Amino acid sequence: MRDKLEKVRQESFRELEKVETIQSLEEIRIKYLGKKGELTGILRGMGGLSEEERPIIGQLANEIRDNVNEKIEQTAYFLNRKDLEKRLKSEFIDVTMPSKRKPIGNKHPMTKILDEIKEIFIGMGFTIEEGPEIEKVYYNFDALNHNKYHPARDVQDTFYINEDLLLRTQTSPVQVRTMEKQKPPIRILAPGRVYRADEIDATHSPMFHQIEGLVVDKGITMANLKGTLDMFAKQLYGESTKTKFRPHHFPFTEPSAEMDCTCAACKGAGCRVCKNSGWIEILGAGMVHPKVLANCGIDPEIYSGFAFGMGLDRISMLRYGIDDLRLMFENDKRFISQF
Ligand code: PHE
Repeated sequence: MRDKLEKVRQESFRELEKVETIQSLEEIRIKYLGKKGELTGILRGMGGLSEEERPIIGQLANEIRDNVNEKIEQTAYFLNRKDLEKRLKSEFIDVTMPSKRKPIGNKHPMTKILDEIKEIFIGMGFTIEEGPEIEKVYYNFDALNHNKYHPARDVQDTFYINEDLLLRTQTSPVQVRTMEKQKPPIRILAPGRVYRADEIDATHSPMFHQIEGLVVDKGITMANLKGTLDMFAKQLYGESTKTKFRPHHFPFTEPSAEMDCTCAACKGAGCRVCKNSGWIEILGAGMVHPKVLANCGIDPEIYSGFAFGMGLDRISMLRYGIDDLRLMFENDKRFISQF
C-alpha cells in the first residue's frame, strides 16, 4: 500500500510537470484526487490493514494528498502567469510609436477675414444674405440703373450665358433681390463670388470675391453711411485707423464715394504697400439711388438707404501681406497653413 501511495505521488508529479493548460490540470486533479480518483481508491482499501498500519498509512495518504494539492495550486499559478505573459506580449502597445496623424486643415485666409467682417456687421445688427452667381442681366445691370450703353455691359468685360443670364460682375444684384422680397428696415451683408473677363495676374482674376452691404430705412443719411463704415474700419484695422471719403460714381448710388483707410502696414506714414500715400482704398459706397429703390417697389419719398461693396481678396491680401492674388486660388496647403 505504501508503494502504491508513493507511485501516486511520483506519477502525479511527473504529469504535473508536463501539463500545459488549465484544463488538463483539472483533468489530472480529478484523476488523482477526485471521488473516483486513484488516491481515493487506495484509501478505500484501507479497511484490510492492521490496527498498527492504518494510522501510519492514513497519515502518509493525507500527506500525499496535501503534496499533490499543493503542486496543483503551484502549477495553476504558474500556468495563469504564463497565460498572462503571453497575452501581455500579444496585446503590447508601444506608446512611444509615432501616431497616425490625421492632418487637420485650417481656414483659408480669405475665409478668416470674411468671418471677422461678418462678426463686425452682425454686431451692428446686420444679417447675412446670399444671391446666385449665375444672375439675370436685369438684376446685375438694369435694376441697378446701368443704362443700355454702360461699358461694364460689354461682352469684352462680362461673361454672358445668354442674352438674359450672366456670371454676376458684382454682388450688388443681391441689393435688388433683398429689397424685392423684404420691406425696410433692411440691414444686410452679402458676400460672394463675382466674375469679370480679366486676364490673371498678381492683382487680377476672372473670379474674385466681394462683400455687399445695404441699409434701408426711414431717415437714413450719408452720416449713417460714414459712421457705419468708419466704425467698421476701426474694428477691422484697429482704433487708430482713420477713414476718408472721396467722391466717385456708381450708377446705383447717388451721391457715391470711395472710402480710404490709413494704411494698416505703416499707420499712414507711407510705405510700399500704400505706394507712399499713407492711404489704402477699401470700398465703394453711396446713398441708394432713388430709381433703384423705386425699381424694387420701395417709395424713395419715404425711405432712403446706403450701400457699399468691398473686395474681400484685396482686404485679405493687405491684412496678411500677400502680394500675389494667384496664391489665393491655388489651394496649396503649404500656403494656406501659414495663416
Ligand atoms: N458694386 C460696386 C463695384 O463692384 C461696389 C459698390 C457697391 C459701390 C455698393 C457702391 C455701393 O465696384
